[in-house]
Amino acid sequence: MTKKTYYITTPIYYPSANLHIGNTYTTVAADALARFKRLTGYDVMLLTGTDEHGQKIQRLAEAKGVSPKEYVDEIVAGIKELWKMMNISYDKFIRTTEDYHVKAVQKIFKKLYDQGDIYKGKYEGWYCTPCESFWTETQLVDGKCPDCGRPVEKTSEEAYFFRMSKYAPKLIDYIKAHPDFIQPESRKNEMINNFLKPGLQDLCVSRTSFNWGVPVTFDKKHVIYVWIDALANYITALGYGSENQELYKKYWPADVHLVGKDILRFHTIYWPIMLMALGEPIPKKVFGHGWLLVNGGKMSKSKGNVVDPVVLVNNFGTDAVRYYLLREIPFGADGLFNNEIFINKINSDLANDLGNLLSRTCTMIEKYFDGIIPVPSEKEAVDSKLIDIALDTPKKMEKNMNDLRIPDALDSIWELVSAANKYIDETTPWILAKDADKKNRLGTVLYNLSESLRIIAICISPYLPETSEKMYKQLNADVVSWDSIASFDGTKAGTRIHKGEILFPRIDLDKKIEELNALKQQNSTNIPKAKACKKEVSIDDFEKLDLRVAKVLKCEAIEGSNKLLKFQLDLGKEKRQVVSGIAKYYKPEELIGKNVVVVANLKPIKLKGEISQGMILSAASEDNKKLFTVSVPGELPAGSTIS
Ligand code: ME8
Ligand code: MG
Repeated sequence: MTKKTYYITTPIYYPSANLHIGNTYTTVAADALARFKRLTGYDVMLLTGTDEHGQKIQRLAEAKGVSPKEYVDEIVAGIKELWKMMNISYDKFIRTTEDYHVKAVQKIFKKLYDQGDIYKGKYEGWYCTPCESFWTETQLVDGKCPDCGRPVEKTSEEAYFFRMSKYAPKLIDYIKAHPDFIQPESRKNEMINNFLKPGLQDLCVSRTSFNWGVPVTFDKKHVIYVWIDALANYITALGYGSENQELYKKYWPADVHLVGKDILRFHTIYWPIMLMALGEPIPKKVFGHGWLLVNGGKMSKSKGNVVDPVVLVNNFGTDAVRYYLLREIPFGADGLFNNEIFINKINSDLANDLGNLLSRTCTMIEKYFDGIIPVPSEKEAVDSKLIDIALDTPKKMEKNMNDLRIPDALDSIWELVSAANKYIDETTPWILAKDADKKNRLGTVLYNLSESLRIIAICISPYLPETSEKMYKQLNADVVSWDSIASFDGTKAGTRIHKGEILFPRIDLDKKIEELNALKQQNSTNIPKAKACKKEVSIDDFEKLDLRVAKVLKCEAIEGSNKLLKFQLDLGKEKRQVVSGIAKYYKPEELIGKNVVVVANLKPIKLKGEISQGMILSAASEDNKKLFTVSVPGELPAGSTIS
């Protein structure tokens, strides 16, 4: 029998922002759903990736003086590392700069153009670069982007447009006929009332003012609007538009797109319309989750109140972070991230309730039965109560997960955890142990606890995969399938347990908060991001670089650029012109007479029509707010080599 499929996606992230706990949230939630579906027998495809085109990325790369591709490559490596750290079990990672995606997007655009859904016109309006969104005059709020409140830029250019208006009535009908399509309910009404009812405007779907994007094949000066490019990822990742459509046939339409509420509009309006125009099925569900807030409001890089998942994982472990995100943030609404609440939760739910349950049970099995799980005998009422709850747990979980109520699913597991702890208090095994006649009863109690723990370990596996594994090991459980928890007998009596380390050591709240605050002060602007080191190079690779001391003879601004400075450098035996993207950080006259370091054997390029023969080295802070050229003392003669 072929398995039922389940296709779930996260948004593809912009490699521009520091990934923070907010982005992590979406991905962890998607991972928990994917793992749950795998556990319950589905053939799952979990897709994530990066959205690498657009003006924003191009500008960030320019500011850094690197090519957009170099810029994104480095960040994407860091993002992959973060997902590894968070234990994200994605099946595919798509990068929109990959060739197969680019080609498929071009095909989609051409098809829509050929059939008349895309036409050429003139665009006049406002553009919010951070959001990569177009707005009309009337949509602006106080002249600023209605989504993020940041300034917008006036644009006017020849552009291609998508006839969204043509499909609006069909989309409204679709949404009405599929009440589950947009979730949660409240957001559906917002989409209909705020965007669809007032009437959809045709969408501008190409740009000519920059070139970091997918080129329109039949009109090369245009690049395709980054949201068209990005949304298409959900199908191009499956091979749509390529020779091999197998995965597409198998997994499309998606079961759920998981997205933040800020991008729900793109997913519930533009995306289904694109698909309608392509004649393809529409995803079954788009779920818009809320914001993760910190004390100062929405977490964002610009506010400097970012909580770094890497710091949290290093301090508390992956599962503690996953647990907090999945259980404490109401799925669909905004939720708060707060270190104090977080640590208290670890101590109460994980260290105390779950961790103690396992360690108490294992300790007693060691002490009273030499580490061998005993054979159960006759049931008493108190046992039946526990067993009923244990058998009910997977059912409740399944119901909640299918309704995308992740915190509720965890609530039901913790009901069982509490019930098992209560069971220990009620059955008082340490008293039973004093009476030789009660040996059978004691055995039954400890068997029931072992079996409850096995069920708990299986149930938590989608959310706390590492902890679940640790529990299997300690219980020495080899039957860990979902089917095995439909009855209360999967634990094999006679199994030797392996009592191991404590699952979650108790955390000293005050001490930890102090440590975290100290960390914050060290990185006053931002907590370090998940940044991977570049790929290792050999000494031979390094020695290919010719690094030289150069004296700045002349430095001037370049007309028409607010980023570039033009340098005349003395390299001892020769003079050179070098162009560098550091105008934001230095006035031209500030650098004259300084000894800088240049890569002297870099292939020359032209920037803004000026030849640049080499690169001046500089050091920048993570957030690029500070930058200094690397310099060496003046007594070193120009042309000195650096190694
Ligand atoms: O929007 N709390 O990418 P992105 C919760 N490339 N979620 C948050 C959040 C917070 N504080 N901050 C951000 C993009 N997010 C596009 C997507 S999909 C075809 C293209 C969420 O990196 C945000 O809502 O700006 C979004 O779902 C996701 O992080 C990625 O944001
Ligand atoms: Mg965003």
